[in-house]
Amino acid sequence: MVAAMTKLTRLGVLTSGGDAPGMNAAIRAATLVARAAGVDVVGVERGYRGLLEDAIVPLGAAEVGGILREGGTMLGSARCKEFHERAVRDRARAVLRIRGIDGLVVIGGNGSLTGAQLLADPDEAGADPVRIVGVPASIDNDLGLTGLSIGVDTAMNTIVEACDKIADTATAHDRTFIIEVMGRDCGYLAMTSAIAAGADLALFPEAGRDDASVVDAVVDTVLAVRARPRKSRRVIIIKAEGVALPVERLKAMVDARLVERVPGTDPSTIETRVTVLGHVVRGGRPSAFDRLLGSRLANVAVRGLLAGATHKMAAWMPPVDLPEEIGTRSPADPYCWLVDLGAVLAETENLLRGRSPLARWRAGAFDDIEDALLL
Ligand code: F6P
Repeated sequence: MVAAMTKLTRLGVLTSGGDAPGMNAAIRAATLVARAAGVDVVGVERGYRGLLEDAIVPLGAAEVGGILREGGTMLGSARCKEFHERAVRDRARAVLRIRGIDGLVVIGGNGSLTGAQLLADPDEAGADPVRIVGVPASIDNDLGLTGLSIGVDTAMNTIVEACDKIADTATAHDRTFIIEVMGRDCGYLAMTSAIAAGADLALFPEAGRDDASVVDAVVDTVLAVRARPRKSRRVIIIKAEGVALPVERLKAMVDARLVERVPGTDPSTIETRVTVLGHVVRGGRPSAFDRLLGSRLANVAVRGLLAGATHKMAAWMPPVDLPEEIGTRSPADPYCWLVDLGAVLAETENLLRGRSPLARWRAGAFDDIEDALLL
């Protein structure tokens, strides 16, 4: 959607939902690009929650200096369930109006961009609503119509580094490790980091395995790997937190089954070990790529707003063909697109429910690439 071209006077920037390394790069670029175009810029602290509390701070070159290499978000972030209520959104719109904010860059994931869509909904917002363009940021890579979201690359590097370390000790002891990584509804991080770490098995919800077949898959993998020559008998299994079977229960079930399948073995020699990486995966300095991605997506978002766009998201190389009414390539960056926000949210839903072709591809990608290693 392109609004009647009124000049942007004050841009608000907010980060919302789970933080992601590279958000600061996006804040910095949005600030500098808008300032260079003569637009006043303010930051909203702690996402929609801060907006409701009128927590608005000035943003300029001095404020964003040096934040590029920092993890987290200098604006703070929050999850704000109340934003589902119309009355709460009306309060947020009143703050934007009083503060003279006529353009907003929302940097966040699925929940945050759903909030953005509702905030700018013309049926609710009436005449002259705030113009909004989203920037995808979520380590889970669970947003539709963008090849990558900010934070995914850093998170993947963190996981791979942890797996490499665990692999050293696993190799020394011929042990099996199940490493649980973040990814609430989406197993992208588990699947891709398993490929990059040379893991033996990736477990993620999109594969649609029930508990029994998760256990079978782990046990079969352990037995296949342990038949290899010594030095390559360590087993690395990466499990997404979104797989319903809790990791400690999985360990107990696998250990019990291994004792049955390898009778006469001392259980302590085949017992699996568990490492839950948890929030470690979300922190840390952003990789060079996430700094680049945050900067370029925010540049495209601000240039879109300046050109009158609203209800859009800046996307990185969408992994599907897009008709013109859904998305157009940014004139500012050939790797970036401006895509319709409603279409992003619909495709996100399809991705999370395993209904899109991309979700089906993701479910098989690890096996396509890695299965041969177990033969
Ligand atoms: O931001 C996405 C994410 O990191 C998921 O992978 C994870 O399940 C969730 O956030 C954890 O959220 P919180 O830190 O609010 O518990």
